[in-house]
Amino acid sequence: MKPAAALVLSALLSLGAAAAGAEDLASFHNKLGGCQTCHGASSVTAADVPDDEIDINGKCMTCHGDYKKLADKSKRFDPHNSHLSDRSPINCTVCHAGHAQPKLICNDCHSFDMKMPFADAAARPAWDDGIDEKAVAAAEAAAPRETVDVLVIGAGSAGLNAAIAAKRAGASVVLLEKHAYAGGNSMLAAGGYNAVGTPQQAKKGIKDSVDLYVKDTMKGGRGKNDPQLVRILAEQSASGVKWLEDMGADLSDVKRSGGATVSRTHRPHGGMSVGPHIVDVLRAEATKEGVGARVNSRAVKLLLDKDFKIAGAIVHGKHSGYYKIAARAVVLATGGYGQNKQMIAFYRPTFKNMTSSNNVTSTGDGITMALNIGASMTDIDWVQAHPTVGLDSRILISETVRGVGAIMVNIKGARFVNELTTRDRASDAILHQPERRAWLVFDSDLYNSAKMVRGYDHLGMLKKADTIEKLAETCGMDPATLAGTVRSYNAYRKAGKDEAFGRPDMPLGIEKAPYYAVAVAPGIHHTMGGVAITPQSELLDIQSRPIPGLYAAGEVTGGVHGFNRLGGNAIADTVVFGRRSGEHAAQYALGLKSAK
Ligand code: FAD
Ligand code: SIN
Repeated sequence: MKPAAALVLSALLSLGAAAAGAEDLASFHNKLGGCQTCHGASSVTAADVPDDEIDINGKCMTCHGDYKKLADKSKRFDPHNSHLSDRSPINCTVCHAGHAQPKLICNDCHSFDMKMPFADAAARPAWDDGIDEKAVAAAEAAAPRETVDVLVIGAGSAGLNAAIAAKRAGASVVLLEKHAYAGGNSMLAAGGYNAVGTPQQAKKGIKDSVDLYVKDTMKGGRGKNDPQLVRILAEQSASGVKWLEDMGADLSDVKRSGGATVSRTHRPHGGMSVGPHIVDVLRAEATKEGVGARVNSRAVKLLLDKDFKIAGAIVHGKHSGYYKIAARAVVLATGGYGQNKQMIAFYRPTFKNMTSSNNVTSTGDGITMALNIGASMTDIDWVQAHPTVGLDSRILISETVRGVGAIMVNIKGARFVNELTTRDRASDAILHQPERRAWLVFDSDLYNSAKMVRGYDHLGMLKKADTIEKLAETCGMDPATLAGTVRSYNAYRKAGKDEAFGRPDMPLGIEKAPYYAVAVAPGIHHTMGGVAITPQSELLDIQSRPIPGLYAAGEVTGGVHGFNRLGGNAIADTVVFGRRSGEHAAQYALGLKSAK
């Protein structure tokens, strides 16, 4: 071991004592060898630190080892052994801030009670708290730091797809990501990707068509969707699956989601969640193409030239400060606004205090930036509540759980709705039940067939019992009511007809002990509205004219889903329109370049 490493390690053995004061991690390490210890240089300014913090993380790992070494596998929850630490962009400094209080990033979604070293260090405002308008103006007045054909803003599925497509079309591309790692809401997607006409459907003998996909989507959206966009979504959904499979994705399983006439929701085998998988695949592909996300880099302003064509953006880098990127074309892929409390209160006041299943990144930045340059919005006030967010948590209990067989009952133990109806109707139905909450109930066959369900169990969200009556007692339901509900449901299933609520598909009964239940309530899930786009993904201005060079895709847009999105249609949207926006942006940018 190098002497410096030994010194750091021995000093860290007394970490408990060091952490007792208000010292931060930087001053602790400073005692071991000055700035050099972490930064590799004796004199460092903020601007010397690359926004991605990769170099500093290399230093951390030189002394402490990587996550695998640090993970304590005997613990039920260990942050170094989490699903996030498997992903390379999650690094030490995401949690262990040098000059500020540490932050347990897991708690962006969970509520773990873990004390971190240096937790008592002085709190500082987050680097991206607010926008320094003076610095923005100075950056705007200065020369651009770089010039690029296509600037993609946001590295969720839409942005990653756009960046890959634009790069493959021959454009130079920069992909900005404000968070410390890429993924956004896309990395949380659980259920799957809706596609019609795939070999997977053919293998299972599923009779589907583009027209049926369009019909289901329009019906789900209450007819308010843009029919042209919906048709493109349906027509290109299968080639989107192939595009992902060609990169190495597994979308081999197909199941049914709420509001769909047939099974068309594609996902990895074994009931694995779709989002983390495809984000990993896309991220690896983007890196291979040389367009990996530039993390900790938030776009704060879109720039137009004197002819109202897009000219680039002002970016705020975590360490590099405010700077300008000149771009021939820009793709806005910043996601929705499900975590922006002010926007929710403004656009959907009835959902004001509702929990949200969304990633903390869904703050509507793209909508604000687009509004500031006179963009047009579609259905901006339509917000979807997902019926089954884990009660008192932010963990989504995927529609898959109902899709593969769970029933939904109220706090007494009685069913009250067709579990496979559209989620706006299911959420409404729950909100009309006592205590505005419900239980999903299922048996061990379902538990064993869906990996995500075992994940909920790991998080301690499931109740379990050997008989239905005992399960009811554990959950505070009426045992006789729940037993009667289960008996009737199993009989309907055997007869092939749900006499009570007309549920169209009953793949599993509730027959094999042990039995399980999970408490759920509706939570903000998807913002259907956003910037208005053309079928070519061009962003429209307030007079419905395309803003030259500006494109958008994914949850930041409106029009595809109408007033209510069907489960599985958003990932399809991000792949189909992500690709289209990247291709059209590249075409436009390269056209501009060759015209010069
Ligand atoms: P996101 O994936 O949210 O990505 C946007 C990115 O932009 C983020 O990384 C964000 O940090 C970044 N960003 C934002 N502002 C800026 C800025 N100013 N500068 C730089 N970067 C910025 N849909 C399905 O079809 N199937 C499912 O199974 C499914 N399950 C879901 C489960 C959950 C828990 C949730 C929350 C959603 C689910 N959805 C599902 C919906 C779907 O995941 C999202 O609608 C979709 O992934 C949005 O993709 P996106 O790329 O548009 O946005
Ligand atoms: C879910 O798995 O329930 C979410 C699917 C979606 O939002 O499309």
